[in-house]
Amino acid sequence: MERLQKVIAQAGIASRRKAEELIPEGRVKVNGIVTKELGTKVTSSDLVEVDNVKIEKEEKKYLVMNKPRYIVTTANDDKDRPTVLSLLNKYYQQYRLFPVGRLDYDTKGLLLLTNDGDFMNTVVGPKSNIEKEYLVRTEGIMSNTTIKLLEAGVVIDGYKTRPAKAKIDSHDKKNQSSLVRITIKEGKYHQVKRMFESVGFPVKRLTRIRIGDLILEGLQEGAYRELTIHEIKSLYVLSKK
Ligand code: URA
Repeated sequence: MERLQKVIAQAGIASRRKAEELIPEGRVKVNGIVTKELGTKVTSSDLVEVDNVKIEKEEKKYLVMNKPRYIVTTANDDKDRPTVLSLLNKYYQQYRLFPVGRLDYDTKGLLLLTNDGDFMNTVVGPKSNIEKEYLVRTEGIMSNTTIKLLEAGVVIDGYKTRPAKAKIDSHDKKNQSSLVRITIKEGKYHQVKRMFESVGFPVKRLTRIRIGDLILEGLQEGAYRELTIHEIKSLYVLSKK
């Protein structure tokens, strides 16, 4: 027996949180009857429908992609720009994959994709403790004093960011810019750009280079591969630390 919201999330239709909204909204039927009760338990022989469409148990897929710049991470884009899903081949397009969190249109680097809502919630949900590391090209010559401010936490939109780790990689005196590595455990909207903005160093280019112990090694821009079972387990463990 599994909870209804878990079954919906596992089918890749919605995240657990979204599934918890669909049920009270009356959009879910069990054996033909609308069920608004969140705690409802179902077995694999029960017929579950969302918006009158029967849910199928889909094989779970977990991909890591090296997202190029100028690609959106949403499934559809109102401006018709290319999406990360359009980079997938026909085989993976048959799965209902979705990005695990977002990278901005002009950010490149490590992006996870899955059809497992539980995995997504664990890795990027509000309770996740997983590290995300970014390489940041900023305007201006940054000092270690400013790095310490970023590490201690800065206020963005009235919210103080959690402690972070940051380090200057190099300065480009000619172009008046700095290359900085920052590791954060959160993923608020435009978080890295807003953190750097708040200390007076706007971001020129941003690349995510690591999530947990997963790095981009060997993946060309636009390329992707399936995670190994060991990598999936490790992401779960690090998210819950
Ligand atoms: N922080 C940002 O500002 N943008 C991203 O794409 C990721 C993290």
